[in-house]
Amino acid sequence: MADAPSRASQRVAIPAGRFDDAPFIRACRRQSVPHVPVWFMRQAGRSLPEYRAARGPGSILDAIAQPDLVAELTLQPVDRYGTDAAIFFSDIVVPVAAVGFGVDVTPGTGPVVAQPFRSRDDLRRLRPLEPEIDTPYVVEAVSQLAATLDVPLIGFAGGPFTVASYLIEGGPSKNFTKVKSLMHSDPKLWADLMGVLTTMAVTSLRSQLDAGASAIQVFDSWAGILAPQYYESMVLPFTKRLVAEVETSHPGTPTILFGVGTGELLPLMATAGTSVVGIDWRVPLDEARLRVGPDRAIQGNLDPALCLAGWDVAAEATREVLARAGRAPGHIFNLGHGVLPETDPGILEQVVELVHAEGRAGVEETIQEERP
Ligand code: CP3
Repeated sequence: MADAPSRASQRVAIPAGRFDDAPFIRACRRQSVPHVPVWFMRQAGRSLPEYRAARGPGSILDAIAQPDLVAELTLQPVDRYGTDAAIFFSDIVVPVAAVGFGVDVTPGTGPVVAQPFRSRDDLRRLRPLEPEIDTPYVVEAVSQLAATLDVPLIGFAGGPFTVASYLIEGGPSKNFTKVKSLMHSDPKLWADLMGVLTTMAVTSLRSQLDAGASAIQVFDSWAGILAPQYYESMVLPFTKRLVAEVETSHPGTPTILFGVGTGELLPLMATAGTSVVGIDWRVPLDEARLRVGPDRAIQGNLDPALCLAGWDVAAEATREVLARAGRAPGHIFNLGHGVLPETDPGILEQVVELVHAEGRAGVEETIQEERP
């Protein structure tokens, strides 16, 4: 641990803006692209035989703490599929686990918390994150990847609401009753918890950007459980602060905000300040464009379950997504949520080929054709 800062100072500096011409970065900025860029949430993981072979048994948190393994797992789907971006292999609970809150990730279940967050006293269990000391393996793995990759690396953090939901519920939840009770019975404690988790997310994201990540995604996966008025008053202000602080330290960095079941929240999410809003499969992209407005790029939104129904179904659904996205610039193709473990990687390979061949949103010659 003591040598972490000196290792950091020896790191090779990666010039910021190295991937400014990459289709993924250009699409985030709503610039013209040679083809619609594509990556998949959870592209690394159990659907890949090479992942299962390399990962071994044990908690994913142990795997995440090994930079060489993390670099390998991050590269696997990029090599196999030819995606336009890599997503850093880690988990949204890594920062809270690293400061000692007592979180593990159980295979087949997800994050589990031994002593859930219940009262003001529990705030003391969330000391500030010091990336060089608490998560040096993240900094190390991102640096390795930034030096190796020929596509942009997306760093990420959990949205404060989604991370709070795991801490309060103690694990995955269907109805989020404990979170909602705390939000409404003790709004002051809720705001303090959100404040702490927002700062932790910013610290983690800055460490990933400093180490060479080219963009970031905020996974506020479960925010869609909230009614818009409470999302707006009790979550969005923190997301806005998070995005603003990343923009202050790393101006111009493409940022993506994603959640599931957020159809009613999209107009609000569009005000968080990110360059891109991620859309799940429930809202067609033409409708999503109307809901987020013209100033944001959109990402999505093939239903991951349709990748299990054979190539003909997946191909038709992929074309439908491209058609709905239309020809305006600013579409990044993705699934509407993460790759399901039972997905045949061959199907995703074909999806990438099809998107690259037929995805025309913001394509350079299209824009020239349309010029008067
Ligand atoms: O390609 C990638 O996206 C890999 C990196 C990644 C993981 N988790 C690895 C992982 C990312 C971006 C995440 C984010 C994450 N983690 C989210 C947000 C994304 C989403 O799906 O909404 C959430 C909600 C979590 C919490 C979490 N961690 C869950 C729900 C699970 C699945 C539990 C299970 O076993 O089904 C995890 C574990 C986890 N994180 C796996 C992977 C590849 C499962 C595989 C394993 O244990 O090896």
